[in-house]
Amino acid sequence: MASAQVMNAPPIPDAVQPVKISPPLILYKPLHPTFGAEASADFSTITPELVDEIKRGLSKYGVLVFRRTGLDDARHVEMSKLFGDLDDIAPFVGGLGQKNRLSSDYLFDVGNVNPDGTVMQPGGMRDLLLRCNYHFHADSAFNPRRAGISLLLAHELPPPCLGGETEFADTRAAYQALDDARKDEIHDWVVCNSQLNCRRNANTDENGKLNPLLDTDEFDPMKHRFGKHRLVQEHEPSGRTNLYIAAHAHHVEGMSLEEGQKQLRGLLEHAGRPEFTFKVTWKDVGDLVVWDNTCTLHRSVPGNYAGKYKRDLRRTTVHDMSSQAWGLNGEGATWRSGLD
Ligand code: OGA
Ligand code: MN
Repeated sequence: MASAQVMNAPPIPDAVQPVKISPPLILYKPLHPTFGAEASADFSTITPELVDEIKRGLSKYGVLVFRRTGLDDARHVEMSKLFGDLDDIAPFVGGLGQKNRLSSDYLFDVGNVNPDGTVMQPGGMRDLLLRCNYHFHADSAFNPRRAGISLLLAHELPPPCLGGETEFADTRAAYQALDDARKDEIHDWVVCNSQLNCRRNANTDENGKLNPLLDTDEFDPMKHRFGKHRLVQEHEPSGRTNLYIAAHAHHVEGMSLEEGQKQLRGLLEHAGRPEFTFKVTWKDVGDLVVWDNTCTLHRSVPGNYAGKYKRDLRRTTVHDMSSQAWGLNGEGATWRSGLD
């Protein structure tokens, strides 16, 4: 009797069919109390779902570190295109005697390798310009359309313990830590950003003397256009407020040059305080660090590897896709900082 009942049992309705649970696409291990995570994912097939999950992770963590991804130039670029519109270096190639060493104009060469494959020696023009990267910045804050997400991939690394880490700062936490009066005071400030400002400051000694190689109109921020962006902005993916400050910040609109520079220096120092920062040590070829420039800052840490060992890192840069992307520069503007 009991077995006849089982045989006649009605089929299980769809609603209670067992559901297939897929494993999470990314596992996260936080790296700092307020931001950053080491993340593990399978890059053997790159899908829009994986890219969406990376974006979700970035909205929370701001910086994600993926180890040994196995990516090469072509797949790095291919994946980056799924994030949005890519920035490219084409307008800069040929300027300052620069040749593009790499296979694609979507790859920004931030390493220390000369086009002939030798290690860049300190003191040459490209080295002087790259020194800007030693200071906390957000990519392309100086251009009419700022950068959103950057993806930096390791191709060759110096031996361990010789420097060359990448340090990050949490600018949402830095904003949050300001007191209410300061938040009110800075709320409507518009910051004028220039890549040349960062390049000049990075080559000015402790007595205020600028390296003569950069003491020309070509490197004078006042002779070129500024990328204007609001200092205090909503970070749209998370709904949190961000302090958009970078080493490119040259002056505050409507404020005297001197006062503006003093204020901006103070804010940049605040954002770079140790409690808002952590360092990523590059370990292996294929390590990929992805960050959101609209809620974090980054800088490269100088080290004794310079002039001796190759540090070959290549970056793709996704234009900001948020409503704040163009700041106060006019949507669709095509000029580039320093080339205007
Ligand atoms: C960059 C950058 C820092 C580094 O790729 O935009 O600033 O550590 N890199 O090389
Ligand atoms: Mn950068």
